[in-house]
Amino acid sequence: MRVTTADIRKMKENGTRFSALTAYDVVTARLVDAASVPVILVGDSLGMVVLGYDSTIPVTLDAIVHHTKAVVRGAQRALVVADLPFMTYHKSPEQALDSAARCIQEGGAQAVKLEGGCSIAPTISRLTSAGIPVMGHIGLTPQSIHQLGGYKAQGKTSAQAMRLVEDAFAIEEAGAFSIVLECVPSELSRIVTERLSIPTIGIGAGPHCDGEIQVVSDVLGWFSDFVPKHARQYAKLADAAAQAIREYTEDVNAGRFPTEKESVSLSDDVVSELEQAFPNSA
Ligand code: KIV
Repeated sequence: MRVTTADIRKMKENGTRFSALTAYDVVTARLVDAASVPVILVGDSLGMVVLGYDSTIPVTLDAIVHHTKAVVRGAQRALVVADLPFMTYHKSPEQALDSAARCIQEGGAQAVKLEGGCSIAPTISRLTSAGIPVMGHIGLTPQSIHQLGGYKAQGKTSAQAMRLVEDAFAIEEAGAFSIVLECVPSELSRIVTERLSIPTIGIGAGPHCDGEIQVVSDVLGWFSDFVPKHARQYAKLADAAAQAIREYTEDVNAGRFPTEKESVSLSDDVVSELEQAFPNSA
């Protein structure tokens, strides 16, 4: 049985903490699902960790739908949330409805996520009243990176912190089933988490949220050059992969791979027939 948004809300009611991870492909989705992680986000971090852009802004709706399909094929149990990319929901609630419909209908996601606070609340209301579950996202919202002036913690002054609490209330009021708090001080997360009835899901937001989400590439150590302060590497796959690729190319160059063990054979009769039909004149 697939996890539902009601299950996620119930976890908060029961005081059960939960994890969430991003995934962008079928292999990762299978692994995350097999580990019983209840929520998989097809994040627009796709742009940075898979497609090599330096921000999430170039990510298109087509790309999110494409990768969501792959993740849904790999995840039998987790709730799959598709991230609405930059400018696919900002123009009007109707535009958001069209974009979200593609993620749900074509992509197979069960919910969508979008960034923003009070100003995006009417859009969240439009989606939720059309039956589309929405995960909110406030604090460091990477699609506004040019306005924020960099990937830095938000809500550190009293005015900013007050505004974020108001944003969180507006998102809950608009009908979101959960809300991501990204890169905000842990005291602020605690205050928001205690006051909302929907679950908060932190990333760089301290230990007080109801759930925690991380970018799967950070958890697996797919990048050795940069590890965000809020991440913990549970594996070092970049190092392991680099070593494997080096060994493979060395083996090919030295004639150690492939061997007969990795090959298909002909019977001796067929070999001699072939050799007779095509004598080697070289
Ligand atoms: O795109 C993403 O991966 C996200 C998470 C960091 C919450 O939005």
